[in-house]
Amino acid sequence: MKNFFLAFSLIFSILLSSACVDKSANSGTATTGDGTGDIKVGVYGDLTGQTSSFGQSTINGIRLAVDEINAAGGVSGRKITLVSEDDQGRPEQATTVVQKLVNQDKVSAILGEVASTNSLAAAPVAQGARIPMITPSSTNPKVTEVGDYISRVCFIDPFQGSTMAKFAAKSLNAKTAAILGDVNSDYSKGLTQFFEQEFTKNGGQVVTKEAYTQNDPDFKAQLTKIRNLNPDVIYIPGYYGQVGIIARQARELGMNMPLLGGDGWDSPELWKLGGESLKNSYISNHYSAENPAPEIQNFVKAYQAKYNTVPDSLAALAYDAAKVLADAIRRAGGTDSAKLKDAINQTRDFKGVTGTITLDASRNAIKPAVVLELNPSASKFAFKETIYPEGMSAPTDATTSNTNMMMNTNQISNANMMNSNMTNSTQMNSNMTNSTSNINSTMNANR
Ligand code: PHE
Repeated sequence: MKNFFLAFSLIFSILLSSACVDKSANSGTATTGDGTGDIKVGVYGDLTGQTSSFGQSTINGIRLAVDEINAAGGVSGRKITLVSEDDQGRPEQATTVVQKLVNQDKVSAILGEVASTNSLAAAPVAQGARIPMITPSSTNPKVTEVGDYISRVCFIDPFQGSTMAKFAAKSLNAKTAAILGDVNSDYSKGLTQFFEQEFTKNGGQVVTKEAYTQNDPDFKAQLTKIRNLNPDVIYIPGYYGQVGIIARQARELGMNMPLLGGDGWDSPELWKLGGESLKNSYISNHYSAENPAPEIQNFVKAYQAKYNTVPDSLAALAYDAAKVLADAIRRAGGTDSAKLKDAINQTRDFKGVTGTITLDASRNAIKPAVVLELNPSASKFAFKETIYPEGMSAPTDATTSNTNMMMNTNQISNANMMNSNMTNSTQMNSNMTNSTSNINSTMNANR
């Protein structure tokens, strides 16, 4: 019975949230393209499909940001109106809804998608129409390569994949790893490649790469193969829906080695699917809601007050993406698309809840990652360590950043935490330095 009501209220809230124009943010002023009236911003994501918690968290984070912006008087006196579209997590549908946002709704900018494959499907539409699109959370490098109108506020997968490979080799002392990835996902395929590269570089060996698809109900064949090879760790660069079941089936098969993953595991649904099987698992992610920094705790409190749940990294990144966009509209002096695109791409030292955001020449954010340990009995991702990209040090100012967390003694050196895109970056922010030698001393100072 309880489940019935839960399902009913879920469907009801989905129906409500898929309504196109966000009434709460709509002041009723006509939108114009000439710098007056409301600013229409399109949002697209998976609100009802396989990864719907990604879409729901994203829209929640964006609404919170937009409500705050509008309550404070808007951007240069103009209110932001959101037009949201559900793509059901399907790439073809992502293309279709972005076509609608561009041609019919005539939005000034677009926020989305989460899954890299969906962003990759829709980005050419935004690029072709010269409408700036900021993805809050798509991490595959190819997404921003579509063109200069496409940017992101998150780090990219060469960094995320190498972070976990280093963690496996150094913190867990793993010598061998198996990888179990989604063959239809650009995200999964990228992470597989980047993890393997870095793990091998660190003296490790990838003993097998096994594949699944999002429609697979069962993963025992792949897991049995992996069990026979008995690797020290299994890297599973997938999304929560499959990961939860994979974890359960692995433990059922008596495989108790650490399971490693990335941001795609981040969902409140994961605990329901994986339960206690998720013990002894670690992921890389964008932020930790446990970070005591006041600006993060203020965000967590405001989000909880509005939605009655702890914001995951999707919500935090979406909140940051909306605020970065508003800041760029202000700096561009309006919504002229070429000027707005330039202003977004010139984002420097923007203080977000997921860290300080500076876009590099490829329109990717240069930011640290966190490693989180799964604690299923408390349904919590517990903070373990912060990993900085090459050339970036922990901030010394206690009030400025996500990255300035209690460091634990497992802190691994990031001196070689290379990401080629990062070392090529021409724009360094004030927290960055070319010297790697001072990084560990800065970290020690922060312990
Ligand atoms: N990074 C994932 C992708 O590109 C999406 C994601 C981000 C999922 C953050 C969960 C949390 O596909």
